[in-house]
Amino acid sequence: MGYTIGVDIGTSGTKSLLIDPDGNILSESSAAYGVSMPKPMWTEQDPEDWWAATVKTIRAVVKASHAKPADVKAIGLSGQMHGSVFLDKSGKVIRPALLWNDQRTAAECDEITELAGGRDELIRMVANPALTGFTAPKILWLRNKEPKRFARLKHVLLPKDEIRRRLTGELATDASDASGMLLLDVRNRCWSDELLGKLQLDRSLLGRVYESDEVTGSLRPEIAEKLGLTTDCKVVGGAGDCAAGAVGNGIVRRGVLTASLGTSGVMFVHCDEPQTDKQGRLHTFCHAVNGKWHMMGVTLSAAGSLQWFVESVCKELATRRGADPYHTINTEAASIPAGSEGLLFTPYLAGERTPHADPHARGCFVGLTSKHQRGHMAKAVMEGVAMSLRESLEIIKDLGVPVREMRLSGGGAKSQLWKQIFADVMDQTACTINAEQGPAYGVALLAAVGSGQYKNIEEACKATIEVVKKTPAKKASVKTYNRLFPIYQSLYPSLKASFAAISEL
Ligand code: XUL
Repeated sequence: MGYTIGVDIGTSGTKSLLIDPDGNILSESSAAYGVSMPKPMWTEQDPEDWWAATVKTIRAVVKASHAKPADVKAIGLSGQMHGSVFLDKSGKVIRPALLWNDQRTAAECDEITELAGGRDELIRMVANPALTGFTAPKILWLRNKEPKRFARLKHVLLPKDEIRRRLTGELATDASDASGMLLLDVRNRCWSDELLGKLQLDRSLLGRVYESDEVTGSLRPEIAEKLGLTTDCKVVGGAGDCAAGAVGNGIVRRGVLTASLGTSGVMFVHCDEPQTDKQGRLHTFCHAVNGKWHMMGVTLSAAGSLQWFVESVCKELATRRGADPYHTINTEAASIPAGSEGLLFTPYLAGERTPHADPHARGCFVGLTSKHQRGHMAKAVMEGVAMSLRESLEIIKDLGVPVREMRLSGGGAKSQLWKQIFADVMDQTACTINAEQGPAYGVALLAAVGSGQYKNIEEACKATIEVVKKTPAKKASVKTYNRLFPIYQSLYPSLKASFAAISEL
């Protein structure tokens, strides 16, 4: 008997699940935590919160599954990408981690681009341009803005890799997550000594790079005891949540795209070769499939936009007893025609990545009239997120990457309405698969490969993942969205200067 556990250290909480050798989920557990925003567009979390949630949820899944401790062979870790856990020489966390959607590092991005010898040179070295969310600009920010803390800095780890350190004592990462640090030679799947040299950063700051299915260590004795497991339980490389989510959706070959609707939204395609977008609009990262790559476009506030609308704007709904506020909003939005009667929404609540890469971009409702009700606004939010992700899809297609099938995942995909909007905006059938857990499921499968239960991740996905529902596009709505899309696309260029001016206020 060989069970494995997948853990996903997300932005709003940590999810763990335990699967049997056939990929059936025997138990699941999650624990929520908050994000602190010391200033607008700054986001931070305390790694202690991730750790407490990891311990709590692993203990819960082990207990609920009734698995014998010795039968749990391996753990896979997934997590929010790019976050910076700064450690001193005694392994103490120096300050709260800066997160993937933190926008404070615009000046450091310029600094990196200059030190690298320009944007093209940077893309040559690490396959991507400097973006505020990535990890390297966060390290330079610490050096520039908090020099005393920087003087104590010994290691920088990504969120899931900090959890790995606490579980196993190892300083390690995997190639997919490492790609988002902007310090990895993505083509050769190793740290870029060339860029590290230009930025005057020491390679010893970084952990060892593994493939996602490789074993990186075993549980430390006191931790094994705490979790109800044994020291034979291995921890595999795992993956950043985008690659892990793609594996959990079976995206391990060309031609299938996953659109994930979590806090952020991601359009993700598998690539057999490291293909880059010369304009740097899409990210090119290593995939969690051994020796493969992927490209993706990211909308920073996807389900995060709807969460903002429901929990901040419609706050009174959340305090009503009994009714689920998301259900109420979904029902109101479902009665509104495609196109929200001329109301558009730009989901730039946390700035934007793809395709604009602008930390100053802001969210907007455009086209409001006195006819518009709350339901229109909710539907416009869902449509705006889908339009933003269509911008990524268009770039993917322009680069010649085939998209024969689109699979939807993430919390937002639970809404049939949002699924239909996606199918209609993309003019593509939206498929959903048998496992809804995305990243946690993906790394549980990687752990099953690492502990020898499958030959490789392709085989594991083939044995466990199948499409169970298809939502075809509706012709009339496709027509409406095809008319709206160029109008949506024209909003950012028209407002760019205003966004910059607003952020100066
Ligand atoms: C990917 C990204 C986000 C986070 C969210 O580049 O920044 O998807 O990983 O968890």
